[in-house]
Amino acid sequence: MTDSAKPTARAARTGDDGPLTARNLRLARPGKRRAASKPLDNPLREGLRLERVPDPATLVLFGATGDLAHRKVVPALFQLWRTNLLPHEFAIVAIGRRAYTDAAFRAELRRSLDQFSRMLPIETAAWDEFASRITYHRGDFDEAETYDQLVTRLDELDRERATAGNRLYYLATQPSAFAQIIAQLGRAGLDHEQHGAGWRRIVIEKPFGRDLNSAIRLNREVGKVFRESQVYRIDHYLGKETVRNILVFRFGNGIFEPIWNRRYVDHVQITVAESIGVEKRGSFYEEAGASRDFLQNHLMQLLSLVATEPPATFDAEALRDEKVKVLRAIEPMGAEQVAANVVRGQYGPGWVAADPVGGYRAEPEVDPESETETYVAARLFVDNWRWAGVPFYLRAGKRLPKRATEIAVQFKQVPHALFKESRADPEANLLALRIQPDEGILLRFAAKVPGLGVDVRAVNMDFTYGSAFSVDSPDAYETLLLDALLGDASLFTRADEVEKAWAIVNPIIEAWADAPAPDFPNYAAGSWGPAASDELLERDGRRWRRI
Ligand code: BG6
Repeated sequence: MTDSAKPTARAARTGDDGPLTARNLRLARPGKRRAASKPLDNPLREGLRLERVPDPATLVLFGATGDLAHRKVVPALFQLWRTNLLPHEFAIVAIGRRAYTDAAFRAELRRSLDQFSRMLPIETAAWDEFASRITYHRGDFDEAETYDQLVTRLDELDRERATAGNRLYYLATQPSAFAQIIAQLGRAGLDHEQHGAGWRRIVIEKPFGRDLNSAIRLNREVGKVFRESQVYRIDHYLGKETVRNILVFRFGNGIFEPIWNRRYVDHVQITVAESIGVEKRGSFYEEAGASRDFLQNHLMQLLSLVATEPPATFDAEALRDEKVKVLRAIEPMGAEQVAANVVRGQYGPGWVAADPVGGYRAEPEVDPESETETYVAARLFVDNWRWAGVPFYLRAGKRLPKRATEIAVQFKQVPHALFKESRADPEANLLALRIQPDEGILLRFAAKVPGLGVDVRAVNMDFTYGSAFSVDSPDAYETLLLDALLGDASLFTRADEVEKAWAIVNPIIEAWADAPAPDFPNYAAGSWGPAASDELLERDGRRWRRI
């Protein structure tokens, strides 16, 4: 592609001759015409960041025919492309085991976009331009030939597409393939960064290991080939707008931080509820269970963001240093503590949203006598100056009554009951960060009921993203892919962070493997989990918040 061809190609994406991109502004600077354009006129790009545009690059997608690539990765890349957040000099090399022509593979992706893109319809011109950058390569992940051919292909693309030797490897494969792909990339020299230009980065999907030892081993394999600064381990919860807002809420406001500690906070509840079952992922879930699928990653990440100290600067290392300190402050449990503080559950048949649904053991690819947990609840303590003695109650489960992720910070009761005339005692304050859906923040406080006398009742002050900003948030994968291309690792988990999270979850998994299986299934689909989970809080004189 010659330089003179570029304006035409760019125009194809937005359907006009003045695409409103940060890249164009940057390229055009100090040109008057483009600099004068108003970048936010394009509604598709609202909510996305304007000022940062990645370098030219090739993204190598391993596992390109899989579910994750079709559902998440490619729709996110296309969304970035159509909103002009990817560089013009961009290419995708898709690698999978099945045989496809480029045309057939592109057509399949196109169909997936109709199903999974968050903005429809798909503009034909933008798609054609994007699709022309995708080439498919059949290859086995364990064969040297796959990687030798990749070396040649990537060099060609650098010449054809001016991708400047920058490469982002994305592992969207089965976790069992991670180590061999990484070793092969190393063998073929595909990890080597070139002097001056040509960065190499690798994105690794979760689950990262299946226990502490395998995570340490995998980190070691990764470390043989890539430097830590080249590695981007995904926990997609970190890319969610509302999760990113936790830090802004805490450290962008002056009034919450002074009370964010054991003096004022009674306890914290973190809930990740899903109404779906295991869908078509029975065999994956049999191996994972809720402890590996949610507790080790999503729940631990939410916990560390809520509990972290303010980092000195807003860069990847400073933030991740602080988050790791939180995980270090959680003492791993012994078997007895696991029995007292952690609850597991598995759903049986029941009703969700007025529809009858089968139990976990009847799901496809699931052992009819499976002992895999589809629900986990835990009571943890962060043993540091700020949080000593404050319980963090965590729960996650499938086939619960609704989809809802929420962090509730329950404050302490007022020290002295002043309003004795009131029919009810004032409720303690509560702050709920609604991660999804219905994204927002709720503050519950006491107010005087209008009328004679002094009757006090709790009322809600409610902020919702939808009404405050009237823009759609980017999907977590858009944010994360853009960040990986930009070289910003803040929202990715570092090796020590992954290992610390495993150090907490590993004893739980081990204790369960040794202990007699509980009476599974122990909660009906469509209920809020096993009775033991309620008892976990009742023992402390508390209860789960009704969401
Ligand atoms: C994934 C889990 O990490 O997150 C799935 O493997 C789960 O089991 C999914 O359904 C939930 O993601 P989200 O973004 O819909 O909350």
